[in-house]
Amino acid sequence: MAKRPSTVFVCQECGSQSPKWLGRCADCGAWNSLVEERAPSEDAGGGAAGAHRYAPAGASGGARLYSDIEIEQHARISTGIDEFDRVLGGGVVPGSLVLLGGEPGIGKSTLLLQAAANMARTAGAVLYSSGEESEHQIKSRGERLAVGRAPLYLLAETCLERILEEIARIRPALVIIDSVQTVFSLKFQSVPGSIGQVREAATQLLFTAKGQNIPTFLVGHITKDGSLAGPKALEHVVDTVLYFEGERHHSHRVVRAVKNRFGASSELGVFEMTSTGLRPVPNPSQMFLAERPVNAPGSAVLCSVEGSRPILVEVQALVSSSTYGNARRMASGIDQQRLTLLLAVLEKRAGLNLIGDDVFVNIAGGVTVDEPASDLGVVAAIASSVRNRVIPATTAMFGEVGLAGEVRGITQATLRVREAAQMGFRRCIMPAANIDPDARLKGSRSEEANIDPDACLPPSRQGRSGEPRPGSPGPQAVGGGSEGGGCELIGVRTVGEALDALLE
Ligand code: TYD
Ligand code: MG
Repeated sequence: MAKRPSTVFVCQECGSQSPKWLGRCADCGAWNSLVEERAPSEDAGGGAAGAHRYAPAGASGGARLYSDIEIEQHARISTGIDEFDRVLGGGVVPGSLVLLGGEPGIGKSTLLLQAAANMARTAGAVLYSSGEESEHQIKSRGERLAVGRAPLYLLAETCLERILEEIARIRPALVIIDSVQTVFSLKFQSVPGSIGQVREAATQLLFTAKGQNIPTFLVGHITKDGSLAGPKALEHVVDTVLYFEGERHHSHRVVRAVKNRFGASSELGVFEMTSTGLRPVPNPSQMFLAERPVNAPGSAVLCSVEGSRPILVEVQALVSSSTYGNARRMASGIDQQRLTLLLAVLEKRAGLNLIGDDVFVNIAGGVTVDEPASDLGVVAAIASSVRNRVIPATTAMFGEVGLAGEVRGITQATLRVREAAQMGFRRCIMPAANIDPDARLKGSRSEEANIDPDACLPPSRQGRSGEPRPGSPGPQAVGGGSEGGGCELIGVRTVGEALDALLE
């Protein structure tokens, strides 16, 4: 009897397989996510022989004693773009597989083409394989980005096997696949972009990257709900996952590391989209505060930390009486649930009457802050709008707000204070627990109770530990304070105390 072609049903959400169709995936619980795919044939990579062939270099020979293993210093290769190097943890690690996700049109191809051109000049041949654009399209973009003469190979190809052949032929120092969802393997019958295809492409490229020590970038598309299309599985396969964030109506773009085996996750790189490609922004605080209104109620400056990087952002709030009875609460840039919670704390613990009021909170510039230290900025902006009182332009703040109305200590306080002082702020309203160790609340997550006094000095006098940064303005530029002085730290224990200190 002839053997029927074996097919499996693969969940497009989590990649689990089932011999039969099911309405709901037994593993991840997603509804109607199973798609029929042809199982790979035995000779096409499955089975023990296939598994062996894919073993990463150096993995054979059994277990080794911990003390016998030498430390490998990953010599990182610079992409020639400071902000991109920063998110990657200091440059590209040889043999690493990096996934760059983002919405269409946000600038993934632009950034990678810029990096490819730079690395072709410094590190050797680069292969840029695109399944979305022709060589001519890529070239005309490259002309704008001033790619110039460098050993940069363009390949308009979607067949995985052909791409692997070209990698073997050119032996590049860097491979870019734009995008992984357009790549298909001849071994599978399913359409490009299905989980089987994407996983096969990622796995094959992983073995090439590890086996031949070629760093590889994969571009990944994002679905409407914000996750990488199809494969959650992909995030586990790769070494580093980067997300491109930003709004198309703003010129700035943020690249965030959500996973990094070779560096800090949640590290951030900030760029500006210009007519000649993406330009790194060395001082994001200055950019995000550039259009801050002067003496306007409802505006507060918040010291947030993303990865290892302090960034000052402006929180704006508008509270107005609702005409339609059902009050609206809208948050953009912060979590909606967090806003609801903070409004309840303000009503109950700080005596603000917000019943029947519409509350709108926005982080200016389209950035997203999702750390608890942003609470105090949100609370202050709302209170400032309700009471119609201005927060002085030279005051910055940070701190977590608890349900009892207490202001709780947070991490990396020194970093935040230093950034505020560098930007010329004269006062910092912050959790008392971060200044005075005795005031630390039980269970507070404050790790460093003492602020390095050097951090409070203005940039001109921050010599020892605060490294001078290019593009950092003098004290007058943003904070509006006068020279000298430094930043005064005011520790608060409750929301009430904070509002008293902020709204004179
Ligand atoms: P692109 O890199 O093609 O986005 P993705 O690969 O993420 O889909 O970005 C395209 C957008 O960037 C497009 O709207 C045009 C704009 N752009 C510039 O503003 N300046 C430039 O120099 C380039 C190359 C693109
Ligand atoms: Mg693109």
